[in-house]
Amino acid sequence: MSNVTNTEFIANDVQSNQTNKIKQMLVKEYKKIGEGAFGTVSQAKLLDGDIWLGPYAIKKVPAQTEYKSRELEILRVTNHPNVIKLEYFFTHKSPSDGKIYQHLAMECLPETLQLEIRRYYSSAIDMPLKHIKIYTYQIARGMMYLHALGICHRDIKPSNILVDPTSGVLKICDFGSAKKLEPKLPSVSYICSRYYRAPELIIGSQFYSTQIDIWGLGCVIAEMILRKPIFQGDDPILQLREISKLLGPPDKRFVFNANPKYTGPLFSRPLFSGSVLQRFEKILGASGDKGVDLLMKVLVYEPTQRYSPRRILSHPFFDDLRVDGQFIPRGATSPAPLPALFNFSNFEVDVIGELMSGIIPDKQHVQAQ
Ligand SMILES: Nc1ncnc2c1ncn2[C@@H]1O[C@H](COP(=O)(O)OP(=O)(O)OP(=O)(O)O)[C@@H](O)[C@H]1O
Ligand SMILES: [Mg+2]
Repeated sequence: MSNVTNTEFIANDVQSNQTNKIKQMLVKEYKKIGEGAFGTVSQAKLLDGDIWLGPYAIKKVPAQTEYKSRELEILRVTNHPNVIKLEYFFTHKSPSDGKIYQHLAMECLPETLQLEIRRYYSSAIDMPLKHIKIYTYQIARGMMYLHALGICHRDIKPSNILVDPTSGVLKICDFGSAKKLEPKLPSVSYICSRYYRAPELIIGSQFYSTQIDIWGLGCVIAEMILRKPIFQGDDPILQLREISKLLGPPDKRFVFNANPKYTGPLFSRPLFSGSVLQRFEKILGASGDKGVDLLMKVLVYEPTQRYSPRRILSHPFFDDLRVDGQFIPRGATSPAPLPALFNFSNFEVDVIGELMSGIIPDKQHVQAQ
């Protein structure tokens, strides 16, 4: 089991995402950090003249597949502290199979949230609630930005979320499935990994919104609390059964709005006794009263009633982060400052609108510009 690679090649068309300048550079890949359905991710440095740049995470995907080039298009327009940053991109012909690959050189973060959750799972300790809040807040902030641009990520899950446990910084990555959704135009419903698929996707909705990402966020929050995926369906339809074990059965109006042609099972017989609130408290009570309240506003069948990212940011679950600027990173014994959470751009200030006073009670954002 080796993740050491040692590949060096000259790329002729290395384009800077920021300046658009194209240069020839030497690429030195020295560590494999990820392997996915369509390609690999390696840690690499770029030699520009006599200056080494990086380290970067270089994602390699076969070029010229229309579906995949969306990732480059999206990363070229996004610019946000909680969205992975593209630094350079280039194409290169692989000597091993003769095919042309698109290379995306992104800033590199040390870990995925998946690894972080697994670590707590194997040591049988809970992830500190403060860490859960810091990470949840930053995912929601990244989503607020993406959704305001109309971009839906469509594959939210812990392995597509990068973290730096030392600083607490989090960034959403893997825009391989992302799409700018156009209102009233259909999109494929077979996206998102099964455990994180919103109920409207499970029943085949083609006119879904960016709110499918919010469902994914709810599943990720629950997974940080439970240290394992909350809804683990054995097949795409049984996934709905797992959801109804927490939310109760879906109502007919939700099904009709999502896909009037759906004829599959609805699991309409209650699978638990007591109220939905009691059920949330039983399963997710470790997140506290405010955590349960937030989760009940995020894990909601009806997508239009699911909380929006800006509402999530203003939820009292995050009040600690607004008053106390510190946290204790995993493995550390003394506190470190929180990552920047309130340095909103003018664009974000506009999106947040009247909810700003609930997000930053003392109007710190005026100086944070
Ligand atoms: N910028 C980065 N910094 C550090 N690690 C990264 C970075 N980008 C990706 N990785 C690692 O590589 C893995 C795979 O990357 P990514 O999720 O983008 O591709 P993928 O899963 O192959 O894509 P797809 O889901 O489209 O098949 C991630 O789960 C993560 O472990
Ligand atoms: Mg991925």
